[in-house]
Amino acid sequence: MSKLFSSLTIKDITFKNRIVQSPMCMYSAEDGLASDWHFVHYGTRAIGGAGTIMTEAAAVSPEGRISPGDLGIWSDKHIEGLKRITSFLKQNGSVAGIQLAHAGRKGSYEVHGADSTLMRTKEEGGWEVMAPSAIPFSDNALTPKAMTFQDMETIRQQFESATKRAVAAGFQLLEIHSAHGYLLHSFLSPISNKRDDDYGGSIENRSRLLLEVIETVQTVWPKNLPLAVRISATDWDESGWDSESSQWLAQQLEQAGVDIIDVSSGGTLPNVTIPVGPAYQLPLAKDIKAVVKTMKVGAVGMITNAEQAETILLNDDADLIYIGREFLRNPYFPLQAAQDLRAEPDVPKPYERAFPKRK
Ligand code: FNR
Repeated sequence: MSKLFSSLTIKDITFKNRIVQSPMCMYSAEDGLASDWHFVHYGTRAIGGAGTIMTEAAAVSPEGRISPGDLGIWSDKHIEGLKRITSFLKQNGSVAGIQLAHAGRKGSYEVHGADSTLMRTKEEGGWEVMAPSAIPFSDNALTPKAMTFQDMETIRQQFESATKRAVAAGFQLLEIHSAHGYLLHSFLSPISNKRDDDYGGSIENRSRLLLEVIETVQTVWPKNLPLAVRISATDWDESGWDSESSQWLAQQLEQAGVDIIDVSSGGTLPNVTIPVGPAYQLPLAKDIKAVVKTMKVGAVGMITNAEQAETILLNDDADLIYIGREFLRNPYFPLQAAQDLRAEPDVPKPYERAFPKRK
């Protein structure tokens, strides 16, 4: 019996297998609206057998976008397109998850693509970016406005309203994006947070906004549905956020009632050396797994084949396997992985002739 294809129940939601499509921006939305592209893209991966589909970072406000192509959930007009997606995912056996995000100082990019570093000022049709401190992400990035307490209150309200809309759109899993140098991570990291008030300085203070956002979201996210947080477990720089800080944060998140921690890394500094290779972020997930009790741990980063994913789970290094780029290459990754592990793939009826049953 394969562990990758074993089910997992968290609260009222049963995940049919441990494969999660990692959130990946498509930069294909206009005005934040989900289009046919999103419907087909996510729907295809549900047909492909993913236990869970995380939609890409959905911005809680227009200024919370990375670029004008980001998906959004800042108004009720966004609900309909997302609902069409969640209905299809659920009909096809995948848990429908959404990632709520605010880009912070890494927003207002002109055209976002793999290599784009061009940012637009407000005068050029972009928007003012915000962060804990007025420190730009890189030499050619916009200098952010240092946030006031009122700005933080606005952020909490935006996450709350976005969560209500996520419920209305039929999502079953909500993930708060606190990774990759975006707003909530930029508060955590001592590199980007130089505040000297209750939101800067000690690790408790730097974590305050994230924990407040979680508390606010929990007032409107149904208690019977799982809540996740994505973190960058290290900034890959000795002056930054590190694995030990992440272990501490993971315990706070667990106490706060978070069900899943999705362990990514990086994004605070543009030019750090990251030891990229197969499952390169797994040691960070393992460190967290070692200190939490019941909170589930997600591993992500260059996990690309069935045996690798199965081994991570068998070693109890993580509970869920987030797959990113492999899903862009192969939307049917789970169906093939099931065959590789000699598990019974959950093949949609119209595709059965391509997957003859083993005798
Ligand atoms: C990403 N990633 C990402 N992460 C996130 O938390 N929210 C997002 O919206 C995005 N967007 C995004 C777009 C694209 C095109 C890529 C390739 C990646 C990161 C992604 O979820 C994943 O963590 C990394 O890609 C590492 O996993 P893989 O791709 O090695 O399996």
